[in-house]
Amino acid sequence: MQRRILHYGEEPLREDSREVSEINDEIRILVKDMFETMYKSNGVGLAAPQVGVNIRLFIIDTGNQPLVFINPRILKSSGKECAEEGCLSFPGLREKVERAQRVTARATDLEGGEFEVQAEGLVARAIQHELDHLDGVLFVDRISKARRLQIRRELELLAAGESLETEEDLDQEEDQG
Ligand code: NI
Repeated sequence: MQRRILHYGEEPLREDSREVSEINDEIRILVKDMFETMYKSNGVGLAAPQVGVNIRLFIIDTGNQPLVFINPRILKSSGKECAEEGCLSFPGLREKVERAQRVTARATDLEGGEFEVQAEGLVARAIQHELDHLDGVLFVDRISKARRLQIRRELELLAAGESLETEEDLDQEEDQG
């Protein structure tokens, strides 16, 4: 079942999320729903708080394989890279954000096993973006104050529940989480 994606301005996006203590049916259904919701929206990542569930869980699929991260941590990060990002909670908004170029992350998967990934580029970016969501941090928090002022109007529209997407945007696959 597809879930409603919360948009900028909705409170759960700003809350700290709690650790997942048990992987039960509720979690498995949530993950299934999140993948359905993410693919429908052409996203490459989605965090549980974005569908209004404040637990430490996110999914990504940058085209290689679907990955579920439960109680994730970044163990190591290196390098810097500035690239455009979007977020499904900010439909139509894309901004350049500086992130670590490479990360090593550890998390629990849906079967309860621990795994570690070493990622760079888009995958590393997606992991950092989604992990931020679990701490109530949004990608617009990571752009300059000056730039945030410049896009104030867009942010107000988004907070009012509007989408900034144009017809052209909707035709394109976008990397957003
Ligand atoms: Ni996002």
